[in-house]
Amino acid sequence: MQTYRLEGSGGAECLVMRDEAQPKPKPHEIVVRIRATSLNRRDTMILNGTYPLPPRQGVVPLSDGAGEIVAIGDAVTRFAVGDRVTGSYFARWIDGRINAGLIDQLGCTLDGMLTEYAVLDEQWAVRLPDHLDWQEAATLTCAGLTAWNAVTGARIPTPGQWVLVIGSGGVALFALQFAKLLGCRVVAVTSRGEKADRLRALGADLVISTSDMPQWGATVRDQTGGIDLVVETGGPATFAQSLISSTLYGHIVLLTLQDAKGGSIQMPTALYQRSLATISRLFVGSRTNLEAMLRAISQHRLRPVIDKVFAFTEASDAYHYFQQGDVFGKVIVDGA
Ligand SMILES: NC(=O)c1ccc[n+]([C@@H]2O[C@H](COP(=O)([O-])OP(=O)(O)OC[C@H]3O[C@@H](n4cnc5c(N)ncnc54)[C@H](OP(=O)(O)O)[C@@H]3O)[C@@H](O)[C@H]2O)c1
Repeated sequence: MQTYRLEGSGGAECLVMRDEAQPKPKPHEIVVRIRATSLNRRDTMILNGTYPLPPRQGVVPLSDGAGEIVAIGDAVTRFAVGDRVTGSYFARWIDGRINAGLIDQLGCTLDGMLTEYAVLDEQWAVRLPDHLDWQEAATLTCAGLTAWNAVTGARIPTPGQWVLVIGSGGVALFALQFAKLLGCRVVAVTSRGEKADRLRALGADLVISTSDMPQWGATVRDQTGGIDLVVETGGPATFAQSLISSTLYGHIVLLTLQDAKGGSIQMPTALYQRSLATISRLFVGSRTNLEAMLRAISQHRLRPVIDKVFAFTEASDAYHYFQQGDVFGKVIVDGA
């Protein structure tokens, strides 16, 4: 079978394709024929050697992938051959709070999905909604679950409340879709005004182009009466404006503290002194969170937004394309 591995210490040349024997499952394992995978920001950080959790040398990259089970071990009880599955990001985190013993991640410390056949412990996988095709189903593990937990994890916004999303990456577009499922109103902030129509088509009630209005926080607050929940994916470039846009008791889920150039968020103390907003953090989510999200996706027949699809042999082009930053939704690498 064909598989990619990360060999060496950072940069595009670390992504190498290997020809390997087809795996056989141990008693509690499943073998999944991967039909599609997708990229997340962390995958480019892992490739470039800047991710906080050091990857295992030679690991199969990518947390996100979808496929059908082609073999199961003797002791497997959760699945049967033919089931359509995806993986859980923190594979060992089943429920409750995360702790240091649960930090193993698919595509980082554990072999991931950029391969023809993935081997997973049966506890690391979940069944997929029937209405999604393989490419759509390959987008859920990281960006989808992060957005789901940002919107439903702590204080769930109620119908009519305002949610703010930033950019057009996977997390922002899933957050927009989940907020609309809850009946919320959504402000979408983009650095590229030409994406406004597509953001409106997904349900955004108000679109702000940061190139036209770099200091957008006060305008958003004035037009909405204050944002109830910010899904903060912009980091240093947007955090102060997110705080300004928030209602007095707003909630900001801070998903990134740094930008791609290593710049860090500075706390705008004078602004925060006038605010009672809660700033919270999260790390993707558990398998139980993933299962809850998949139930909602099934119920509402929600379809993830796909930007571009690359062939398996073009995986390094997919990384390169994703890294340049001008995307609208998820970047897919098809199965081998
Ligand atoms: N804490 C967690 O558990 C967690 C989990 C997942 C992701 N994250 C973080 O959340 C953030 C969003 O992740 P993501 O995978 O959805 O999206 P992403 O690929 O980082 O975001 C892409 C979007 O960001 C905007 N952008 C503007 N300038 C950019 C640039 N120079 N490079 C890249 N993007 C640029 C673009 O939107 P516009 O063109 O519309 O401006 C682009 O479509 C990342 O910082 C990621 O590390 C955190």
